[in-house]
Amino acid sequence: MPRSPESPARVVVLVSGSGTNLQALIDASTKPDYGVEIVAVGADRGDILALERAEKHGIETFVLETKSYADRAAWDVALAEAVAAHAPDLVVLAGFLKLTGPAFLARFGGRTLNTHPALSPAFPGMHGPRDALAYGVKVTGATLFVVDEGVDTGPIVAQVAVPVLDDDDEEKLHQRIKTSERAMLVEWVGTLARSDFHIDDRAVRLGGAPT
Ligand code: GRF
Repeated sequence: MPRSPESPARVVVLVSGSGTNLQALIDASTKPDYGVEIVAVGADRGDILALERAEKHGIETFVLETKSYADRAAWDVALAEAVAAHAPDLVVLAGFLKLTGPAFLARFGGRTLNTHPALSPAFPGMHGPRDALAYGVKVTGATLFVVDEGVDTGPIVAQVAVPVLDDDDEEKLHQRIKTSERAMLVEWVGTLARSDFHIDDRAVRLGGAPT
């Protein structure tokens, strides 16, 4: 993976929503020493703020809706091809509300990161903040991990803890998590892009794989 400011890591970001995580990455990547160039932003739906944010910054975008494909497998192949067209070193799922499938992972497994608004392995899935509140935990947070076949199960890159307050509702808690989540994402995407990384069993280690 390239590491110098002259040759930043090529990153494709996949999104589905408001794109505050994407915005944090865009802002960081404007600094040359961050070591990241966001070469494209892809989405599983049009008409979302995240795509507007990318377009505003002149970043190429693409949209692949599942309903345009015969089945999920065909969509997964198309997603892999659309991402591959941008030759990324790293793919970041930043609020991307779809599971990537076998075709995608065959090409980008081990170099696709996802961020989840809970402290894995607790509360996987679509409703991390809601499930943490319902369970009554006092601390939750966010997890950055390397995507595997499971739902929020991949090797963990970083985690950040966030307190649950007595007057929290799902929205308040999620917004507090997202503030910490964005900082974690920016720090670690930059670190992994600049240093490269490999996976040793379930441990994510900086530096290329030992030969
Ligand atoms: C983040 O909390 C992410 O972990 C979750 O959805 C949220 C996306 O927020 N899956 P945004 O679109 O980056 O603002």
